[in-house]
Amino acid sequence: MSRDNRVRVVEVGPRDGLQNEPYTIPTAVKLDLIQRLSETGLGTIEATSFVSDRAIPQLADAEAVFEGLHRKHGVHYPALVPNERGYDRARAVGIDEIAVFTAASEAFNQRNINCSIEDSLRRFAPVLRRAREDGVRVRGYVSTVMGCPYQGEVPIADVVRVSEALFEAGCAEISLGDTIGVGTPQKARQVLKAVAESIPVDALAVHFHDTYGQALANILVCLEQGVRVVDSAVAGLGGCPYARGATGNVATEDVVYMLQGMGMETGIDLVAVAQVGDWIAGELGRPRSRTGQAILKRN
Ligand code: HMG
Ligand code: MG
Repeated sequence: MSRDNRVRVVEVGPRDGLQNEPYTIPTAVKLDLIQRLSETGLGTIEATSFVSDRAIPQLADAEAVFEGLHRKHGVHYPALVPNERGYDRARAVGIDEIAVFTAASEAFNQRNINCSIEDSLRRFAPVLRRAREDGVRVRGYVSTVMGCPYQGEVPIADVVRVSEALFEAGCAEISLGDTIGVGTPQKARQVLKAVAESIPVDALAVHFHDTYGQALANILVCLEQGVRVVDSAVAGLGGCPYARGATGNVATEDVVYMLQGMGMETGIDLVAVAQVGDWIAGELGRPRSRTGQAILKRN
C-alpha cells in the first residue's frame, strides 16, 4: 500500500443523491444539506449539475443553489457540466471547478447524454479549452466501468480508452464510475490496474454505487493499489435516472468509518456526517446508512 495515508472523500450527495429523488427537493433543503456537509470537514462537495432541466428536473435550480450558497473557505463546490451551455451557466455563478461526464458504454451514453462517446468527447473539447484558459479545474467521469444496464459487459479496453481520452484532453482527475454497482473486487482490481497503466494513480478517483453491497470491498482493493480519492454520498443517497435499478452511492459514513479503521486520514468528523445523514434521510424518507445508525446509537 502507498505510504501516503491521506484520502480525499468527494461528497456527491447533493448532486448524485438529489438527481435521483422521485420528487424535486426545495432549494432551501438542498442549501441546508450543502451547508451542513460543509461543517463536517469534507473538502469537496459536488453541489449540483448545469444540465438540461428536461433531462434532470430535480436539479433545475442549479443557479439558485449557487446564488444561495455560503461557500466555506477551503471547501470546493464543483458541479456537473455536459456542454458549453452548461459551462456558461456555471461560470455565470462563479464556479471554478466542474466535472464533465461520459461513459465506457455507448448504449448508456446515448440514454444519459443523448450522444455517442466520440460525440461527447467532441462536445467537451471547447469546454476543456475554455476551462484551461479560465483556470477552471475539470474532473472527468467515466460511467459504467464495471457493467452497463443496457449493454451488460463493458470491455476494460473501452474503460481505458475513454479514461485516457478525458485525461489527455485536460481533465485533472478521472473518476471511475460503477454506475449500477455491479462490480466485485477482482473486477475492480483489474479495471483499476488497467487504467493506472496509462494514468497516474494519484489522478484517479473511484465512484462506486452500492447496489449489490460490494462498494466498500471494491474501494478497499483500489486503495490497496494507491487510489486516494473516493466518491461517496451521505446516507448512501444517489443513483442515475438513466440507470434503472441502480441504488445509491456508497455511504460517506461507511467509507469514513472504514478509512478511520485503516488508519487513513480524511479530516472528516464521522459523528457530524452521521448527523447530517440522519437529518437528510429523515427529510427524504430514506433509510440511514449502516454506519450512520450505529454511530448515532453509540453517541
Ligand atoms: P440533447 O437533447 O441532446 O441536447 O441533450 P440539445 O443540445 O439538443 O438540447 C436539448 C434541450 O436542452 C434544449 O432545450 C437545450 O437548450 C437544452 P429546448 O430548446 O429543447 O427547450 N439544454 C440545456 N439546458 C440547460 N443546461 C444545459 C443544456 N444543454 C442543452 N447545459 C444533454 C443533451 C447533455 C444536454 C442532456 O442529455 C442532459 O442534460 N443530460 C444530463 C444527464 C444527467 O445529468 N445524468 C446524470 C448525471 S451522470 C451520472 O449520474 C453518473 C455519475 O454519477 C458517475 C456514475 O455513477 O457512473 C457522474
Ligand atoms: Mg453516480
